[in-house]
Order: sequence, then C-alpha cells, then structure tokens
Amino acid sequence: MCGIVGYVGSRPAVDVIMGGLRRLEYRGYDSGGVALVTANGIASAKKAGKLVNLDGVLQENPLPASTTGVGHTRWATHGAPNDINAHPHLDASERIAVVHNGIIENFAVLRDELEDAGYDFVSETDSETVAHLLHRELQNRPDVTEAFRAVCRRLEGAFTLVVVDAQTPGRVLGARRNSPLVVGRGEGENFLGSDVAAFIEYTHTAIELGQDQVVEITADAVVVTDFDGQPVSTKEYTVDWDVSAAEKGGYDWFMLKEIHEQPQAIADTLLGRIGTDGRLQLDEMRLSDGELREVDKIIVIACGTSYYAGMVAKYAIEHWTRIPCEVELASEFRYRDPILDHTTLVVSISQSGETMDTLMAIRYAREQRARVLSICNTNGSTIPRESDAVIYTHAGPEIAVASTKGFLSQVVACYLLALYFAQVKGAKYGDEIQLILDELARIPQAVQQVLDNADQIHKLADRLSSNRSIMFLGRHVGYPVALEGALKLKELAYVHAEGFAAGELKHGPIAVIEDGVPVFVVVPPRARDQLQEKIVSNIQEVRARGARTIALVEEGDDTVVPYSDDVIRLPRVPTLLQPLVATVPLQLFACELATQLGHDVDQPRNLAKSVTVE
Ligand code: AGP
Repeated sequence: MCGIVGYVGSRPAVDVIMGGLRRLEYRGYDSGGVALVTANGIASAKKAGKLVNLDGVLQENPLPASTTGVGHTRWATHGAPNDINAHPHLDASERIAVVHNGIIENFAVLRDELEDAGYDFVSETDSETVAHLLHRELQNRPDVTEAFRAVCRRLEGAFTLVVVDAQTPGRVLGARRNSPLVVGRGEGENFLGSDVAAFIEYTHTAIELGQDQVVEITADAVVVTDFDGQPVSTKEYTVDWDVSAAEKGGYDWFMLKEIHEQPQAIADTLLGRIGTDGRLQLDEMRLSDGELREVDKIIVIACGTSYYAGMVAKYAIEHWTRIPCEVELASEFRYRDPILDHTTLVVSISQSGETMDTLMAIRYAREQRARVLSICNTNGSTIPRESDAVIYTHAGPEIAVASTKGFLSQVVACYLLALYFAQVKGAKYGDEIQLILDELARIPQAVQQVLDNADQIHKLADRLSSNRSIMFLGRHVGYPVALEGALKLKELAYVHAEGFAAGELKHGPIAVIEDGVPVFVVVPPRARDQLQEKIVSNIQEVRARGARTIALVEEGDDTVVPYSDDVIRLPRVPTLLQPLVATVPLQLFACELATQLGHDVDQPRNLAKSVTVE
C-alpha cells in the first residue's frame, strides 16, 4: 500500500519527506514523488522505480527551498507503474498537488463529469480526479479546506488524501475513509503519515484520524473536523516503538501485520466492482462478454498457497457457473500435454506475478491458443502483462515470505470471477449474485472476529510447541484450507505437517495417527449436512487412536464438542465462503508456533518470496 508523508514546519521539507518515504519503503511501492509549496507555486518531482531514482532526479534538478510539502510512494492500482501515474497529481493550473492511497470507487463517473466540463487528464489514475475536482470546487469556495471537504463528500471508496495548495502556503490538508492517516505533533512543526514510521524520527506524539475526517495542519496547529466541517474531538497518544517496530505497525513480524490487514485486504479487493447499472464489473477484464460466453472449460494454474486458492475457486466456479473447472500445479501443467483451445480459459493465480513456473505455464497456454486471465496482486508484473485479462487483488504489498493476505484476497478475486461468469452466462439471476456479494461484504467483519480471538490460538501454540508432527483434515472447501494450514506450518515452524481430505483418512493416512498427535479439523458448516456429519465421524476415528483433536467449527455447532480437545469457533458464513474465516486461525497458529520456536517468521530458511526459477 502506498506511503504518504505531509510536512509543515521550519525544516527543509524535501529532507523530511524523503526521510519519511524511506522509512515507509517497507510497505512496498513502484514509484515515488514529492511536491513542495514554494514562493513560485508548486514544485514537484516524481519517478517510477525505487526512491533512489527519485533521489537522482532531485539531485539533478533540486527543488526550490520550502518548508511545506507532501510525498508519496505508490503501489499501482489504476494504471501502470510509470512516471506519469506516479503521485503527486496536479491540477492543470498547477495550484493543487494531491497524493492518494486507496481506491476511489466512483472515479469513472467523476472523470466523465470533469472531462465534460473541459478538464484534461494526463494519467490513468483514479487519484488525479481529486486534483481537478478540488480545482473546480475552488471556483465556488475560496477556502481550500472547505473546498477539500466538499470534494471528500463526493468521493466513494477508500482513500487517504493529502493535499497542498500553492495559494495557501504553510497549510497541509489530509482526509481519510477506510484507509489510514496519522498526524504527528511536533514543536513548531506537524506531520501527516500513512503510519507513524513517516515521522517517528521527529516526534512520538501522534493522533489517529477517525473515519471520514479531515485534518488541517499548520506549523502550530492541528484542526480536525468531519467532512461537513463539524469539529471532532481527537486523542493524542505516545508512540513507544522504535523505527523498526514502527515499520511493522507495532507487530513483531510483517507476517503478523499482514494477517491483521486481512479484513482491509478483502474489503479493498471487493471495492469498485459494481457498475452504475448495479452489475458486477471487473476493471481489467479485457475479454468481451462474447469471448467469455465461448468458454467451456476453465483450468486454474498456480503454485503453493496460490494453488490452494485455486482449489477453493474450483468449488465456486463449478457450483455458480456450471463450467467444468480443473486445478493444476503450474509446475506440472505444460509437461502433461493438456488439451487446450480457444474455448479454454486458463486462470493463473500469483501474488507476485513473477513466479517462473506460473509464467512458463501461461506462455505455454497462450501458444496453444487458450486465453489467459491472471489474478495477481502486483500491478505491472510480468504475469499480468503477458495475460489476456487480469483481476488485481488489492491486498497491498506482501512482504513476509509466507502468503496470508495474498491468499484471502486471491480467494475473493476467484469468487468475483465465478460470479462474473455466472452473470455473463446467465447461470445466476442478478439478485442471486447480489446476495452472494452481500455475504462477501460481511466477511471483513467476520475475519476481524477471528483475529480478536488470537489469544486462544497463541495459547494453543504454546501447548503444542513441542510436537514435531501435526495433521490437518478438511472436506469440500475445508480440504484446501487443511492443505494451506499444513503448508504454513511447514514453511514457518519447520514442523512435519500434512493436510488430508478427511475422506481419505481410512485409505492410508490414519496409520500415522498415534497418541498425542495434534489433528486440526476444519468442520464444514451444518448447511452441508452430510459432510458435517461425516467429518464428526472422522474426528471420532482419529480421537479413538489417541489424536489430540482441535476442531475449527462454526458458532452454535456443538456436535463436535464431545470429541474435541480444543474448539476454535468460526463466525457463521455460507459454506463456500468458509475458507476466508477458517484459514485465519491456522495462519495465526503457524506464526505463533514459529515465534515460540525462535524462527525468523518473515524470512524462513530456504525460501524466497518470489520464486523466479523453474
Ligand atoms: C506461500 O506461503 C508461499 N511462500 C508460496 O507457496 C507461494 O504461494 C508460491 O510460491 C506462489 O507465489 P505467487 O503467488 O507469488 O505466484
């Protein structure tokens, strides 16, 4: 997710901003930029790539001295990661500079409106809309803060915005909705940041902005209101983290931070998917409805955790669209001579967009005349560039080697794809699709509920930390969840862990069950009556052989309680969506167990974040 810094005070703003952006580098980004308020108006510089590129630009063409400005590191969502799409964005008169984090859901409507009013856009971003809107608003309301509030009232979606106005020097404005913004309070200087790492070098006094609030900072004052200009009370707090902890948002590990970011990652991945006609829209679909109607077979290819997201996808795709769907490891795909033609849609899933096995598989698929749609978290990476269509997950950069928010947002993107097919093929009525979208919209809250119960999982990890072998069982969509739980544990805790389809137990795996072996069991919601009963029998089977059983089961289902040593409660959600809540305790468990064993959770041995060799 983008990094944002705003500064007003007496120091050279460019130094404060560049320092802040460097401390926010951990968030991941693909371009950077800075804008200063100078005696001669806004002076700005921006550059694609790492901050060292922006440094180069600033050294070659230093910006005039200034003590007020904004800076940004961008993680591309709308538009490629290039110089033009980098922030800040200016209005045509170069009076306003805007930096933005998030997704402005109604930007297409606003852009049309502004273009009709004669505004020209230079970038492909949703963010530029704000600069032009603010310029237009200033024609009616001369006070920039008032005009800014009026702009915020028109925006839908998620945004952190930070703005400077050349005609109001010494003032920096910020606003937030569904995206973080923190104020840093100094002596004779004040700061804005997407998190405290932006200003921790200068002050440890911070104010967290609430939802739908606007802040105006000058060197000596911080004024916070709601979007209508009504004053709101704020509370200062002292940040007692050092710089490295601040980068991780106060968490011990990036992985833990990313686990806790999952409600937001899911919400962001769902944002902006409904068009003005109430129908599902997928921005970079690039395949026409006609082409999609021709699809008679879907093959999902991916590696590791992304492959498990694909396994979940199969259940949703086949159930909602009735299109046959296969799921295959990308590393195996092209070596088995798969049957492909132009009616086959190959769906690749990759968080990084650079995994070599997946890349080679999609190249092969396209050579065989199949169409390729990629689900990816990294805008501008190789796999989406080489695909016919893309659905970007909006999880923000994933730093920890073990994928967490990447996985959940991939699963959400797969559901969106399945529903889109159902819409295009007429396999579901609009109101049926809407019902599922409504259920999906409730998932961030459900995931939060699981996270709020993290303590129970930590205690469990403590009790199981001496076990050298742990099993995971699941059925239906719980099966890939079991596989993912086992993979997380292997990756992080270096413990022997295996996931099984519970129905397979009696065909072999039950032989390894002995006294005290912990077995996690993902219990399907009772809506899947037969399956639920069958898994209760499976729990009894392993328990009878001495296993220590840990049931992940929906609230209100007490049928497993007599056979479970531990019960982890999951919020009630529809069967097909259960992986989104059931995976989270397993991520927390692996992270905590690895921590207790003293391992480096973010950089496990022998593993790389992006596997760019076959
Ligand atoms: C998951 O925790 C992994 N580290 C790994 O399995 C990963 O999911 C796999 O390498 C695929 O990566 P990708 O999604 O970036 O293509």
